[in-house]
Amino acid sequence: MYKAVPVSQDTWWAGVNDRDTDLFESLWPLPQGVAYNAYVILGEKTAAIDTVKGFQSGGYLDKLKEALGGRALDYLVVNHMEPDHAGVAAQLKQLWPGLRLIGNAKTLPLLKGYHRIEEDVLQVKDGETLDIGGHVLAFYTVPMLHWPESMVTFDTTTKVLFSNDAFGSYGAHEGGLFDDEKNRARWEGEMLRYYVTIVARYSGMVQTALKKLGGLDIRCIYPAHGTLFRKNIGQAVELYDRWSRQETERGLVVAYASMYGNTRRMAEAICKGASEGGLKDIYLHDAARSEMSLLLSDIWRNRGLVLLGCTYNTLLFPALESLCSKLVNRMPKNRLLGLAGSYSWSKGALAALQAFAETVKLEKIGPEVEVFASPTDADLEQCALLGKNMARAINA
Ligand code: FEO
Repeated sequence: MYKAVPVSQDTWWAGVNDRDTDLFESLWPLPQGVAYNAYVILGEKTAAIDTVKGFQSGGYLDKLKEALGGRALDYLVVNHMEPDHAGVAAQLKQLWPGLRLIGNAKTLPLLKGYHRIEEDVLQVKDGETLDIGGHVLAFYTVPMLHWPESMVTFDTTTKVLFSNDAFGSYGAHEGGLFDDEKNRARWEGEMLRYYVTIVARYSGMVQTALKKLGGLDIRCIYPAHGTLFRKNIGQAVELYDRWSRQETERGLVVAYASMYGNTRRMAEAICKGASEGGLKDIYLHDAARSEMSLLLSDIWRNRGLVLLGCTYNTLLFPALESLCSKLVNRMPKNRLLGLAGSYSWSKGALAALQAFAETVKLEKIGPEVEVFASPTDADLEQCALLGKNMARAINA
């Protein structure tokens, strides 16, 4: 992606691939990199839609200038102030001193805080439009997608929705930018991973935004990360609707933590019981070793979840504790939950999982199993029964 790419009438992609950052937000691995999509619209006036992460400014500015073809940049629309999108705002203002920045009331303090910019800021209200000559841009606030000031920009002329984090995905572009140029399984997996790590906590606000934007005649959805949607925007909208309603598939995730393999034997007995109960989609994760974003993705897609952990220093084993904390943060709903724990010289794991269950208030499936030291045959039969009951409840 070494050149600016035309993506609609008078509209250019000027984004960059980032294959250097190893952890997004210093948290989430980027095995396929990540793209920061930025755009520029050439009307009678010129308007950039978002920028890129600061250290990527070189590649971005080259493409932006290439697309501008010697013209000055008149506007920068700041859909979202997080530095992966507004990172180059101050540099643009230095390059084009006449530049006006566009944001809403909640953008302004962040613009001052990050970039010391207070002058030449055009504050827009929800639904307000700006005519740049040949293109009329409409701005819609979408709070918490993914910060309070987040908004999207709709070009009423080309019918392109610049959606910023919404509909975004991990993964740098590998040749093509668009949905019809990529393998669906590949972009969907990275889109879900982005959703569950960055957006899932705000699923209720996603539903609000989908309803708010549902009346627009949107032909293309161009997010600020990953795949651009021009052929099958319905697929992207359907996925966002399903994930934000927490509609799940008939599958079971069994996530365990085990130090010496005893709790893992319990987990395998649960999986066996679920299989004997007729369930085909069963995902067994070692919480200490599975990549957390993939584990969360599996949990977000599937109806059943069994958590089982050993006790560590009188508490739940840290890897499972970390998973529980991330789940509480994302407020899961519409799922079935099973619990099991093990202990030796002190109990603790099952009690911690029960406290987690109280917090998330998911429907519980029994039996709850608590095992001393190493599971007996009777213990393993109880685990298998939990698996069977899960399968029955998931398929009900
Ligand atoms: Fe991609 Fe919330 O920034």
